[in-house]
Amino acid sequence: MNRIIELEGINKFFGQGASRIQVLKDVTFSVEHGDFVAIIGQSGSGKSTLMNIIGCLDTQSSGICRIDGDDTGSLSPDQLAALRSRSIGFIFQRYNLLPTLSATENTALPSVYAGMAGKLRTQRAHQLLTELGLGDKFTNLPTELSGGQQQRVSIARALMNGGRLILADEPTGALDSKSGENVLQVLKALNEKGHTIIVVTHDHGVASHANRIIELHDGAVIADQRTRPLDKADVKEVQPQCPDKRLHRFAGRVDQLREAFRMSVQAMLAHKLRTLLTMLGIIIGIASVVSVVALGSGSQQKIIADINAMGTNTIDIMRGSGFGDRRAGRIRTLTVADANILGKQSYIASVTPNTTNNGDLVYRNNTLSAMLNGVGEQYFEVKALAMAQGRFFDHNDVRATASYVVIDYNTYSQLFALGEDALGKVILFRQKPLRIIGVLKEQERSFGPGSSSLNIYAPYTTVMRRITGTKFISSITVKVNDHVLPLMAEKKLTELLTARHKKQDFYTINTDSIRKTVESTTGTLKLLISGIAVISLVVGGIGVMNIMLVSVTERTREIGVRMAVGARQRNIMEQFLIEAVLICMVGGLFGVALSRLLGVIFSMLVSNFPMVYSTWAMVLALACSSAIGIVFGFIPARNAAQLNPIDALARE
Ligand SMILES: Nc1ncnc2c1ncn2[C@@H]1O[C@H](COP(=O)(O)OP(=O)(O)O)[C@@H](O)[C@H]1O
Ligand SMILES: [Mg+2]
Repeated sequence: MNRIIELEGINKFFGQGASRIQVLKDVTFSVEHGDFVAIIGQSGSGKSTLMNIIGCLDTQSSGICRIDGDDTGSLSPDQLAALRSRSIGFIFQRYNLLPTLSATENTALPSVYAGMAGKLRTQRAHQLLTELGLGDKFTNLPTELSGGQQQRVSIARALMNGGRLILADEPTGALDSKSGENVLQVLKALNEKGHTIIVVTHDHGVASHANRIIELHDGAVIADQRTRPLDKADVKEVQPQCPDKRLHRFAGRVDQLREAFRMSVQAMLAHKLRTLLTMLGIIIGIASVVSVVALGSGSQQKIIADINAMGTNTIDIMRGSGFGDRRAGRIRTLTVADANILGKQSYIASVTPNTTNNGDLVYRNNTLSAMLNGVGEQYFEVKALAMAQGRFFDHNDVRATASYVVIDYNTYSQLFALGEDALGKVILFRQKPLRIIGVLKEQERSFGPGSSSLNIYAPYTTVMRRITGTKFISSITVKVNDHVLPLMAEKKLTELLTARHKKQDFYTINTDSIRKTVESTTGTLKLLISGIAVISLVVGGIGVMNIMLVSVTERTREIGVRMAVGARQRNIMEQFLIEAVLICMVGGLFGVALSRLLGVIFSMLVSNFPMVYSTWAMVLALACSSAIGIVFGFIPARNAAQLNPIDALARE
């Protein structure tokens, strides 16, 4: 029972119904360990079909095929892959090296799927290549090798896992006679070392090297003659490589994934332009999602900062029915008394009545149009205003109707030279003298009182009694107690003032509710635009899937080769999934980078507010693009894994 191949009554049919043809007819023979057999026959006589059945790449329609002790008819695809990996080395007419891998990597490929440790792999590949006279070609890509050299690399690959049974289908068919002779010498030498060798050829010259010649004609064996005796006295049977050198299960899986990753990177680098174009949809999708979110956060933060600058927890009570009410100026019911009553309410921390009056401001020989705000001493705190020079006026100043004024930075810069001391200087507003006791810090705001107007602040008592002489005020600003809900306070004071005025001739502005409104509207907007961007991401994902599907078709040969050297369906699936994920992830990275670039350009063009990038948004974008890779890479990867190795190899 020392037979490596046993075939009994093998029949093989192709096609269905009327087009059904019988390619192999009742083929029965067996091959002993260590033999060198040539299968010869005309083109179309079924040699390759027979070889594929022996190589466990194809299955017979009927009959029994035993390879190295296993009945191939009873094995699953993965078990067949394992059998190929353990016992069989293929040599193809067209070498079938993977174009993106170096000679060493091509040679080592079978041992990746067999689970040999990385270091041993390279060592053994180098040793085999050196023995085959390719010691100086380790890092060469297939395109950098001659046909004979490529065929020797493929012989090294066949030996990588031991190569107990070497199947060579027309190994010299594509070579010039000298290289062909060289390859045959190599095969002969291998046979002398104990490898069983089956060579398929239509060339009697090639067949003459073998010990035994089996002739096929129209799928049937018509001759089987031994030309040399099988002398096994001094040869040992070749054993499969490395059950002992094999990695532990888990380590082996990790190693295979790492190899798949490396090969994916190489494949991507080998087709840079195509990879970039594949990524384009993802790049644009991710860049737009990240940019939109950054733009949204930037503008939202800016607006909220502006609102906070207006003061927190404050409610402004204005005359009229709302913004832009043209009759508001004629409403005279809002008074200091209202403010005082409000000040006594438990839910209110402080109150400041405000009057606003336009008028001419004169200093030295300068005349400017300015807005005089009559306010209480709490105004500055309520509005969170800060001082650049001097001080605010206090309670006593308000009681005493002191002729003090605090000017804003715009006014200061109009009236004084930079750095000049304004304190103690007297300005005239509507011809009434006011002494400057403070200068506000420069304020940046895009919301609220226009930053272009000149604002000066004096005690409301001074303004009402000394300058305008009116009894009514234009607004009241209240600061709500900390433990009170602003909305509650707003409701209560509205009821109180409505009762006092007998009707509601005022409206309130609650900074808190403005902030909430802004937050929710910009949030909604962000969601909406992100939704559109997500659609573009999905479109990008479909683009990736499309190109991956094409690439599976284009790379069926590669898939076939991987399967022939022992890759399982899982390995093929992983290979393509990893490529899809990698393309999407790198696309995502480019997208984020592009978005950051847009942010830089944006900040150069728009000084008002920056785009705000949050780490989680970027991480999420990358996670999202990887997920797209998995989702849209799945179908192409599954298609690749389910390819029949024989169909995959048949594709020219
Ligand atoms: N997948 C297939 N489907 C249909 N017919 C096939 C298939 N593979 C091979 N054949 C046919 O089987 C016959 C033998 O093919 P093959 O084994 O490749 O011959 P050889 O290698 O001896 O030239 C040919 O007539 C070929 O057309
Ligand atoms: Mg053939």
